Amino acid sequence: MQTDSKDPNAHNGGVNAMKPSEQQGAEQAQPRVFIETYGCQMNLADSELMGGILKGKGYTAADDMESADVILINTCAVREKAEERVFGRLSQLLQLKRENPDLVLGVTGCMAEHLKEQIVDRAPYVDLVVGPDAYRRLPSLVEQQLDAGMGAAGIDVKLDKEETYEGLMPSREAGMSGWITVQRGCDKFCTFCIVPFVRGRERGVAPNEILTQARHLAELGYKEVTLLGQTVNSYRHEDTDFADLLEMIVEVDGLERVRFTSPYPIDFTPKLIETMARHEKICKYLHLPVQSGSERILKKMRRGYTRVEYEQLVTDIRAAMPDVAISTDIIVGFPSETEEEYEMTRELIESTRYDFAYLFKYSERSNTYAARKLEDDITEEVKRRRLREVIDLQESISAEIFKSRVGGTYKVMIEGPSKKDPNEWCGRTDDFKTAVFPYREGLFKGDIEKVTVTHCTSHTLLGQLV
Ligand code: SAH
Ligand code: F3S
Repeated sequence: MQTDSKDPNAHNGGVNAMKPSEQQGAEQAQPRVFIETYGCQMNLADSELMGGILKGKGYTAADDMESADVILINTCAVREKAEERVFGRLSQLLQLKRENPDLVLGVTGCMAEHLKEQIVDRAPYVDLVVGPDAYRRLPSLVEQQLDAGMGAAGIDVKLDKEETYEGLMPSREAGMSGWITVQRGCDKFCTFCIVPFVRGRERGVAPNEILTQARHLAELGYKEVTLLGQTVNSYRHEDTDFADLLEMIVEVDGLERVRFTSPYPIDFTPKLIETMARHEKICKYLHLPVQSGSERILKKMRRGYTRVEYEQLVTDIRAAMPDVAISTDIIVGFPSETEEEYEMTRELIESTRYDFAYLFKYSERSNTYAARKLEDDITEEVKRRRLREVIDLQESISAEIFKSRVGGTYKVMIEGPSKKDPNEWCGRTDDFKTAVFPYREGLFKGDIEKVTVTHCTSHTLLGQLV
């Protein structure tokens, strides 16, 4: 389970999203770029996109930040904490700017779009501020800064409701699990959420483009693909809906597992449930954000569904796919949330029995309806207590669910050595649980093997290869 303090706002541990392994034969004189990513999977996918765009113009990947000519920090704006973390990171990077005054330091993504020139007001050493729809212009923006030396910062935060980055290939190294952004932006305008303001209008990527990406991943040896969108199941492009798109992706030779995130509850059609259930390749795991268990709060959030409707959807999904794992997002401390309403959220967590959950305390975001019209009136102390309590509750449920898997045998896609012990390997089950098992000769990343679970923690299945 992840919470406010961990993923999905964590950064990618200093890994350059512009893959260094791809630059064989590149000319050394070209500027070297390092991209560090914060936030959701879509940001990781966007970093690969930026890497691909820059590579196409002759830029190469830096091995580390110290040797980079250009550093781009790809950011998240969903909660205030995410932005504060980036300002902290920028102040650390000021040291590198002091050592190398020619270094171009850029902020890209949602926080760039949200704060615009305010980023430069607060961190005057930032050279570039580039929003999520302006990445095509990234090479020329970087070039201007490389040429201009100490000139004014370059700011491009123009949103573009047509931009789907068609025809551009992200920079991907060989791997086993990859992402494809199939939808950009969001039109839902949940009252707490900044995403529609920083990522613009919802638009579906053309199916042919998505197929090209999927085939490219398969050619690189990838076995698993995750289709990404803010409300991925509301995907539409001309006559193609999301279920149609899944039908096309499962046909791509070489791909063994297809995942998607995040579906929006009201756009979950019976056709989509039926499509998921019918295809073994489509993983039986769903992240289905609920946000609150209180009907009144759901209405104030403008989620567009009632709790009763959400619960019916979960019932229908489980009826069609009895083994499906479900996770969710929940916000505690939304404006005016009473103790009773918060209890309803706890009760929903208990009755739904999520496999895991991403739990957040409400963070007021500028421009949103909630920021303009609703008072952020739940004290920090109460928000913190509610968050701690729901984390404890979910931990105990996750522990029970994981324990119930002991003795069972599951297909695991191997991801590589475990972080803790190189003699142990780890992978994921179809329903997105991490499994750890002793290494055996002849195993490769991307192989799907059966593992019998012998014991567990509340987050990990431990077992033996069959
Ligand atoms: N549709 C996207 C949502 C992106 S934001 C998706 O499901 O991937 C991810 C989660 O962050 C939301 O589901 C919500 O639980 C949380 N969140 C968004 N805005 C927030 C805010 N202002 N305060 C606290 N949490 C927030
Ligand atoms: Fe945000 Fe709601 Fe869209 S949570 S991303 S406005 S579906």
